[in-house]
Amino acid sequence: MRHSIEGRSLSVINQVAKTMSRTLSFKESVEEVLKTLYSFWDVKHSYVALYDKQSRLLRIVGAFGLTEEEIERGLFKKGEGIVGKVYKSGVPTVLSDLSIASYLNRTGLRNRLEGDETFIAVPIRVGEEIIGVLAIFKRFEKESVEEGLQLALILGTMLGMMYKLSQRVDEERREWEEEKRMLTEALSERYNLEGIIGRSTAMRNIMELVKKVAPTDITVLITGESGTGKSLLAKVIHFLSRRKDKPFVTINCSAIPETLLEAELFGYEKGAFTGAYTSKKGKFELADGGTVFLDEIGDMPLSLQPKLLRVIQDKEVEKLGGERTVKVDVRVIAATNRDLGQLVKNGLFREDLYYRLNVFPLHIPPLRERREDIPLLIDHFLRVLSARYNKKVSISPRAVELMMEYPWYGNVRELENLLERLVILKEGTITEKDLPSYFWVELQKDKPRSIPELVQNTEREEILKALQMTGYVKSRAAKLLGLTLRQLDYRIKKYGIEIKKI
Ligand SMILES: Nc1ncnc2c1ncn2[C@@H]1O[C@H](COP(=O)(O)OP(=O)(O)O)[C@@H](O)[C@H]1O
Ligand SMILES: [Mg+2]
Repeated sequence: MRHSIEGRSLSVINQVAKTMSRTLSFKESVEEVLKTLYSFWDVKHSYVALYDKQSRLLRIVGAFGLTEEEIERGLFKKGEGIVGKVYKSGVPTVLSDLSIASYLNRTGLRNRLEGDETFIAVPIRVGEEIIGVLAIFKRFEKESVEEGLQLALILGTMLGMMYKLSQRVDEERREWEEEKRMLTEALSERYNLEGIIGRSTAMRNIMELVKKVAPTDITVLITGESGTGKSLLAKVIHFLSRRKDKPFVTINCSAIPETLLEAELFGYEKGAFTGAYTSKKGKFELADGGTVFLDEIGDMPLSLQPKLLRVIQDKEVEKLGGERTVKVDVRVIAATNRDLGQLVKNGLFREDLYYRLNVFPLHIPPLRERREDIPLLIDHFLRVLSARYNKKVSISPRAVELMMEYPWYGNVRELENLLERLVILKEGTITEKDLPSYFWVELQKDKPRSIPELVQNTEREEILKALQMTGYVKSRAAKLLGLTLRQLDYRIKKYGIEIKKI
C-alpha cells in the first residue's frame, strides 16, 4: 500500500521535472505543475501566489480549479493570513480545519469546498529569497498529510528553480532584442554630415574635424549647452566610422541612479547581489565592436570613475561580483554641457579621467553665437516637419528675422520644438503674429530702455534704501545720497514716498 503511494508522489515529481526541462514561461510552468497535481494527486484546487514588489502584495499568478473572480480576490499582504505568513516567515503550514479565524478565505474558495479538505501552504524560494507561496487544497484519503507536505515542499523548490530559469530566458531574450534593436536602428537611420545643418565658421570647423576624427578610434569629448546637437554629432561620428554596422550604445549618466549605473555600465555576474539570479552584460559589453556614447559625463559619480577609466585605458570591463575581467573593443564618445575642467578643480571629476576623455575636444557654440545658422535650420526643420505632418508650411521673412534675434537658451532643440508646434497648428505661412508671448518678452529684454525712466526708477529705489537705513532721519539720508535736504524733500514729494514715523 505504502509503496504505491510513494509511487504516485514520485510520478508527480517525475512529471514536473519533465516540465522543467522544457523552456516555458514561469506562468506556463506553474500551470503545468498544478495540472500535474490534479491528474496525479487528485488536488482539485491549488494556486501559486508571487510577491509583487510594486504593489507590495502577493498575487495569484497561476491557479487550478479557481474561478477568475477567486483568482482576482486572492491578494495578500506580507504577513497577512496563512499565505502572507508563510511568505513572511518561510514556515510551511498545514491546516486541516479551514473554519478557524486565521484562514482568511480571501479567494472565497472555501464556500465551494466539500469541507474536509486540508490546506497546505509552502514557500517558494529562489536561493535565500522567498518569492511566493504554493497553496494546495486536498482531501487526504489514501495518502498521509505528512507525505502531502513533503511533496508540496519539493514542488516549492522546483517552482523556485523554474522561476530562476524563466528569468534567465527572459533576460537573454531582452538582451537579444536590445542588440537587434540597436543594429536595426543603425541600419534604418542615416546619419551623415549632410544631416548637420550650419554654415557658420564654427559649424564648418566642427564638420572638418569630424571628418578627420570619425574614421579613427580616438575618444571624442563633445561639449556645448543643452540642445546644441551633441547627441546628433556623436551619432554622425559613429556612422562615419568603420564601426557603423556595430552597435551605438548611449548611456545617459545623469538619468540612471548611481546604484544602477554601475550594473548598467559594467554588467554583473550571477549572485553579485540579492536579486541577481542571472548574470547580465553591461553596456560596454553590448557595444562590443561599436561605440559607447557617454552622455552627460559630467554627472558620472566619482565612485564609478576609476572603473570607467580602466575601460577606456585597458579596454577591460570588471563585472560586478565577477572574478575575471572581460575584454571589450569599444570606441568612447562623451558629451557634457558642464565645464569638466571646473569640475576637476572642484574635486568633482577625476583629473586622470578628464585627460583621457579630453583627447579630442569638440565644442559646439550656443545657437545665439552663430545666428547665421538659424535661417538654414528653419528651412531644414520646415521641410522635415512638413513631410512628417503631411502639410506645406512656410515662414515670413519678418518671422525669420525675429527668430534670428531671439536668444534660444534651449538652442537647436528649442527651435525645432517651436517649429514643430507651429507646423501642427498652422496652415500656410508662419508670421510674427504666430510667435509665442514669451518670445516677445525675451526680445523686449534686449531692447535699449528709456534713460529718464531708468534714472527715475533707480533714484526712487536709492532714496527708499537710504531712508530705511537711517530710520527715516531725512538729514542723514540726504547726506548718504549726496543731496541737500531741500533736494531730497523735493524728490520725496515727487515720488510720493511715505515717511514712516518710528
Ligand atoms: N546642426 C544641426 N543640424 C540639424 N539638426 C540639429 C543640429 N543641431 C541639433 N539638431 C537637432 O536638435 C535636436 C537637439 O539636438 P541634440 O543632439 O539632442 O542636442 P544635445 O545632445 O546637445 O542636447 C535634435 O533633434 C537634433 O537632431
Ligand atoms: Mg543629448
